Amino acid sequence: MKILTIIGSPRKNGNSYQAAKKLEEEMKRKGNYEFEYLFLKDTHLESCKGCFNCVSKGIDYCPLKDDREMIQNKMEKADGLVMVSPVYVLTVSALMKNFIDRLAYLCHRPEYHGKKALVLCTTGGIGAKETLKYMEMIAEAWGYKVNGKIGITTAPWPATEGLKNKNNKKLQQSAQKFDKSLKSMEKEKPGKIKVGIKDYMGFRIFQTVSENVKDYMPADYQFYHGKEYYQTARIGILTKALTAVLLKVIFFMMRDMGPGDKDS
Ligand SMILES: Cc1cc2nc3c(=O)[nH]c(=O)nc-3n(C[C@H](O)[C@H](O)[C@H](O)COP(=O)(O)O)c2cc1C
Repeated sequence: MKILTIIGSPRKNGNSYQAAKKLEEEMKRKGNYEFEYLFLKDTHLESCKGCFNCVSKGIDYCPLKDDREMIQNKMEKADGLVMVSPVYVLTVSALMKNFIDRLAYLCHRPEYHGKKALVLCTTGGIGAKETLKYMEMIAEAWGYKVNGKIGITTAPWPATEGLKNKNNKKLQQSAQKFDKSLKSMEKEKPGKIKVGIKDYMGFRIFQTVSENVKDYMPADYQFYHGKEYYQTARIGILTKALTAVLLKVIFFMMRDMGPGDKDS
């Protein structure tokens, strides 16, 4: 199976890369995995100009010409994604954040359902929890199922045996989880994937909003129109019924959020 590891550290042989290599070793002990490393540092990614075209009209309307498409082709070909960043001032590095901004439209129209992800950060000691939570939310918004979160503590001095053991244990535990979830993909036949209420609700909220604002967000409308879910899946009657009720409540509470009168 193919795993794409995207590294957001400006240090090519730094702590983040070292931790990702250890994860690769662990994974290779468990199965037949092929790892590819992509250093954001070596790619050409412009910074988002804020036109919002990618979200409202479609990614083909983005005026920036850079390596975004090349990176997404790699994401498309891989079964799994490992998203790696050092903690920079309590969150992801600027390289990683810029990459996330360049793919902003994916949070509206996810493309990676059915794939698995693991998020990894390295930190001097503070901010790992928040950084991992953030990367997890992003990967899930893109469609990945995140099975594995690793926060590695590094220090600018030699690590104690205790810290080394703690870091190794985290890597081993998460590698086990990630391996299990990747192997489960082989059993996930199209149409058999069972969708839980949280995921289905998320889908239906986006779908309903896209219908209500189709003149302003045509790309979302085209993406969601006529779909039962992001991928072929099994959605229970109860899940559908409960979602329908909850949607009514949510949209009643959000009634002032829709488009106003064009002329007022
Ligand atoms: C600009 C900058 C900001 C940092 N901010 C934090 C921080 O908020 N919390 C923390 O614990 N460590 C922080 N660190 C330390 C790094 O997260 C840590 O050394 C990390 O392992 C570096 O990974 P790398 O070698 O892959 O670049 C910061 C380092 C730099 C250079």
